[in-house]
Amino acid sequence: MTSGSADLVIVANRLPVDRVTLPDGSKQWRRSPGGLVSAMEPVMRSNDGAWIGWTGVAGDETEPFVDDGLSLVPVPLSEQEIQEFYEGFSNGTLWPLYHDVVAKPEFHREWWDSYVTVNQRFADRAAEIAAEGATVWIHDYQLQLVPQMLRELRPDLRIGFFLHIPFPPGELFQQLPWRRQILEGLLGADLVGFQLSGAAQNFVRLVRQRVGHKTHRDLVYLPDGRTVLAAAFPISIDTAGFEELARSESVTERAAQIRAALGSPKKVLLGIDRLDYTKGIYPRLRAYSELVKDGHFDVTDSVFVQVATPSRERVEQYRVLRDDIDRLVGRINGDLGRIGQPVIAYLHSAYPRHEMAALYRAADIMVITPYRDGMNLVAKEYVACRYDNDGALVLSEFAGAANELRQAWQINPYDINGMKATILEAAHSDEKDRARRMKAMRKTVTEHDVASWANDFLAELAAVRPTHGKPVRPARLS
Ligand code: F6P
Repeated sequence: MTSGSADLVIVANRLPVDRVTLPDGSKQWRRSPGGLVSAMEPVMRSNDGAWIGWTGVAGDETEPFVDDGLSLVPVPLSEQEIQEFYEGFSNGTLWPLYHDVVAKPEFHREWWDSYVTVNQRFADRAAEIAAEGATVWIHDYQLQLVPQMLRELRPDLRIGFFLHIPFPPGELFQQLPWRRQILEGLLGADLVGFQLSGAAQNFVRLVRQRVGHKTHRDLVYLPDGRTVLAAAFPISIDTAGFEELARSESVTERAAQIRAALGSPKKVLLGIDRLDYTKGIYPRLRAYSELVKDGHFDVTDSVFVQVATPSRERVEQYRVLRDDIDRLVGRINGDLGRIGQPVIAYLHSAYPRHEMAALYRAADIMVITPYRDGMNLVAKEYVACRYDNDGALVLSEFAGAANELRQAWQINPYDINGMKATILEAAHSDEKDRARRMKAMRKTVTEHDVASWANDFLAELAAVRPTHGKPVRPARLS
């Protein structure tokens, strides 16, 4: 990738490839399985695109390279920046703050300084490689200052930003000592996208109240004549790809193997999450264990498979969570399990798409109970894989996906008794009811897949928004 040559630039904390070490010690790049990568791939190829991001390895100074036809531009992070920018400000401050303060956010000035430094590095890189008038699409909470920093360097660019996680209400956001800088950072974009319209409204309201700009519905009018649009673009998955995988012979066989390995129970319940305190794994397992204890599920013919993917393992709150879940699973299985028949089959591991599809096909009930979640793509993947129109989805009303997957059995994860009653209802549902719900949800994820999400966002970003020409006062100092 030469300087100033990319017509479309994706900027995200991570590159779409992971560095893997082969048995012979040599290193290779492996494409990450994420939906964002598959959505962006065709757009990148047809637009002479480039992707800027971190390789996930401390101090990695790899030069820009091409992998399977995609131009990738690494941004290095030092060990200290990983601690302060990534684990610190991104995942110790913003992550809990934006997820309803489910855990207590920490505010440290040196973490903020590192966030500013790293955001500037991403902005500098994007400014270098973007062609004249190019489109730059910046992703997620780790990079909220990049839009403004980039606009200062390159006013010719069309800049979009998408937040993959929730955007909190003002009452919580205002705890942040650097709230104004974050809002101004985002206002560098022409289009700021959120998962839900409520989040876009939170943002516009905060801009009006905290920065003092004039707003009208989903528009912000800036004193320099620019208009910024804030709108919802609920992200989705590669629906057809998941369905095709789920229909394959090898996934069908693997799903049968999984059920057999579990002792061919009548009911398989499934949870799949990153091991994160926002996901509500603890209350979910408690609810299920109480159902077993109360005699509603029998350990000899039902099992709860909980897959917890290791995540952010050096961050204190994640370590504590891991210990809490280990202890809870141990206690439940110790108290209620039998030889060869655990109440909870717990797997602390990451699985490839093929195994995930087999698990979805093997599960009678998928139980997803976050306290707060931007979207929750696992819910959509489960639906995409159930081409048999069977399977029950129990879903937290606090997941963004609940907005679209209205036919799921919805629960409030703070209400353990309510959750127990709803899981039972799903378990005793008749086939017709399950099929009616699943069909409706499948229609939703088929009509709104990740490609339509990316196209809708890019089309809105490309739509011309002429300077507003309204007399507006300069932003107030706060
Ligand atoms: O949901 C937000 C997100 O940053 C995703 O983009 C990502 O896949 C996941 O969390 C895990 O993030 P990390 O890069 O911290 O491992």
